[in-house]
Amino acid sequence: MTVDVTNATDGPAGGRRRVRYPEPALAARAARVLRDNDTGAVITAAPRLYPHMWSWDAAFISIGLARLDVQRAIAELDTLFAAQWRNGMVPHIVFTENDAYFPGPDRWGTDEALDGPRHVRTSGICQPPVHAIAVRRVLDIARRSGPDDRIDAERFARRIWPKLYAWHRWLVEYRTPGSSGLVAIVHGWESGMDNSPRWDVPYDGVHPGAALPPYVRKDLRNVGDPGERPTDREYDRYLWLIEEMRRAGYDQRKIVANSSFLVGDVFITALFAMSCDVLIELGEEFGQDTDELHDLADWAAKARDAVAASCHSVSGMARDRDLRTNRWLDTQTIAGFSPLLCGGAPDDVQLRLLSLLDSDRWSGHPDLLAPVPPSVSPMRPGFNPRQYWRGPQWPVIVWLFTWAFERRGWHERARHLRDGGIRLTEDGSFGEYFQPFTGEPLGSTEQSWTAAVVLDWLCED
Ligand code: SER
Repeated sequence: MTVDVTNATDGPAGGRRRVRYPEPALAARAARVLRDNDTGAVITAAPRLYPHMWSWDAAFISIGLARLDVQRAIAELDTLFAAQWRNGMVPHIVFTENDAYFPGPDRWGTDEALDGPRHVRTSGICQPPVHAIAVRRVLDIARRSGPDDRIDAERFARRIWPKLYAWHRWLVEYRTPGSSGLVAIVHGWESGMDNSPRWDVPYDGVHPGAALPPYVRKDLRNVGDPGERPTDREYDRYLWLIEEMRRAGYDQRKIVANSSFLVGDVFITALFAMSCDVLIELGEEFGQDTDELHDLADWAAKARDAVAASCHSVSGMARDRDLRTNRWLDTQTIAGFSPLLCGGAPDDVQLRLLSLLDSDRWSGHPDLLAPVPPSVSPMRPGFNPRQYWRGPQWPVIVWLFTWAFERRGWHERARHLRDGGIRLTEDGSFGEYFQPFTGEPLGSTEQSWTAAVVLDWLCED
């Protein structure tokens, strides 16, 4: 599909009657969101709530951008990786000058961190490693869009490969402690699923000290209803973990040894396995060092084994592991389907997961507006259809499943999910997340990554 931005007609978004834009107009609106959120230097994750560059947002955004302008897509990933820390970490936020977001760079206090970049201010944690997937997608799109784009994207893929390898090596060196093989996070924000019930038990072990400096949340000003965001109790814990990291000078070894939150994240581990596969493909194509390719194959295999080993013996669902208490976390969320992303679990487990995914406990729930999995099962006690990661549907998560299912050769399933993703987002609001029964956009609107994945779906061959 050719995207014509002049087709981006204005209209009510998320009002009482849900609008349904036809595909060309929806694509045009998505393109306009990306254009409007472009500061000239970065595309902000969202205009008001998130006025900076976020790591995994930038990866998805580059995929949508590639549908419009391959050069601009490349520039976005280059900007993110220019902020990569010297030890290999890709920071979760690259700050712009905007001060409407909290916690900003002063609160993170990473300026003195030994490994941090000097020319730009960043946060001190990471986010899911989906960047190799984005590079692969940008390259594939560029190859179909014309010879100049192809040459640029190939040069770019060659140039960014060592940085991606360094990023993956950082995750292995610093973030696979203990014997579970799961990639560990030291803050719920690193998972991208900030207040998912996945983290409730580990956060119970985080006790904000009296030394927590006072703060004022800014996020609540930018959403219609504060109930759509994490609670103050959760924020105290988020801020306390930052305080602990600041005190450790962002020394990863100290943080992993001492932080009050350390959890093996099964969803990140599955994404890591897939991203290693992609890096191997790209590395083979562009003649990268064979030792490094072997490393990646080894890391991917270990990550898959870890995901498979986490599966619950009855439900089959994959589980996170609290590495502070050495306990499995049995909370069932969308992350439980991680083996369907990366493969590696026994066939009977995968079949069980597929039938669970299709069942009325997940995507087949009869009251869903769009048949795509919510962040938490509507049947689960504590499911909240409006609150951040505690129930709503997230288009980017749907995109990850469509991408993985396509790669696994499950084309019909991928198509079904993609259609559901478009149904969810066709109101043209580009909500950050959606109320699963009504399709009401929640959190931010004009969220860049939502616009990006919708564009990618709509422009698919
Ligand atoms: N998602 C977080 C926030 O809401 C930051 O990563 O601010």
